[in-house]
Amino acid sequence: MIRNSQWDLGISFVGCGSAMPHKVITNDQLGQRVDTNDEWIKSRTGIGERRVIGENESLIELATEAAFDAIKMADWDVKTIDLIILATSTPEDLFGSAPKIQSNLGASNAVAFDLTAACSGFLFALVTASQYLGSGAMKRAVVIGADQLSKWVDWDDRKTCVLFGDGAGAVAIESSENESGLVGYDLKSDGSKGGCLNLSQSNIFLDLVQGVTHQKGEYLPIQMEGKEVYKFAVKEVPIILGELLDKYQINSECIDWLLLHQANQRILDAVASRFSIPSEKVLSNLRHYGNTSAATIPLMLDEAVRDQRIKSGDLIACSGFGAGLSWGAALFYWHGPH
Ligand code: COA
Repeated sequence: MIRNSQWDLGISFVGCGSAMPHKVITNDQLGQRVDTNDEWIKSRTGIGERRVIGENESLIELATEAAFDAIKMADWDVKTIDLIILATSTPEDLFGSAPKIQSNLGASNAVAFDLTAACSGFLFALVTASQYLGSGAMKRAVVIGADQLSKWVDWDDRKTCVLFGDGAGAVAIESSENESGLVGYDLKSDGSKGGCLNLSQSNIFLDLVQGVTHQKGEYLPIQMEGKEVYKFAVKEVPIILGELLDKYQINSECIDWLLLHQANQRILDAVASRFSIPSEKVLSNLRHYGNTSAATIPLMLDEAVRDQRIKSGDLIACSGFGAGLSWGAALFYWHGPH
């Protein structure tokens, strides 16, 4: 089922930003720790290096910087922001990290909360924010995707550690009576396959008082069945994108940019070939950052807007997918600052 995105108001994409940690870890460096090498990683994933948050950095700082850049591009007074959603699976505070970002930004009139949907998180947060704007309940929102999976990767597991990195990206969106940037979207979940990719709690119970135990708050490192996740992505992403294109009667030739969650270059290529989208229109920065989870889509968007590949009026076909399992797609026009 494709959800109806016919609101009273349109959604305009007016700003974007990103921020990355300074520390770079190359494939060769990983090869010093686990039995892997640059050739294997590049040929199987397209990844050349990734960034890792170091001692003098923090996820909240990166997310704040990304949001600040997006607000600056949009040329907004921070006091006019109504909503901040932080998509993350790796908050610094399990009670929520978004309010700290709101405070850092000085966006005192904004309500701020976290949303978790793993690598689909940014897209889920974007669609969530759009409901408030499209209905007229709110006018301006900042949607951030930021993750620090380096905290939860088993750096001795070569099957997962080569894939992930840290980073943050953000967009500024506002309701608009004249333009509708967000054409349509769809979101999906399949919890029955959730075991393919987990960052789950450990089942350690400690004695509390006589006859009563309590669960220790602790998580296990990321566990993944890589092949299953790969098959899921190359099957479901073309389906959800194809349904959206059909619904809005948009020919794939009209897509200016394919902007997928940056998980693996082979996934990007497989999806592009299903729609006969030439490689020049497929956005990828996997080589430099790997999979930064909820951050990949706004990070890639920001890079391509700032180097002027994406221009005002370009149509972007976007899809996020990952743990849950969860996945989603959106078609939107990039507008840019007024
Ligand atoms: N370096 C060298 N060899 C490695 C390796 C590494 N980092 N990781 C695995 N291998 C080995 C395996 O042990 C296996 O060896 P074997 O044949 O002797 O048993 C061989 O390489 C092939 O492993 P396999 O798991 O079949 O590789 P693959 O082609 O499926 O690629 C992934 C593995 C993880 C790159 C791929 O499955 C993938 O990208 N899946 C999607 C993961 C993803 O995107 N997750 C996040 C979603 S948001």
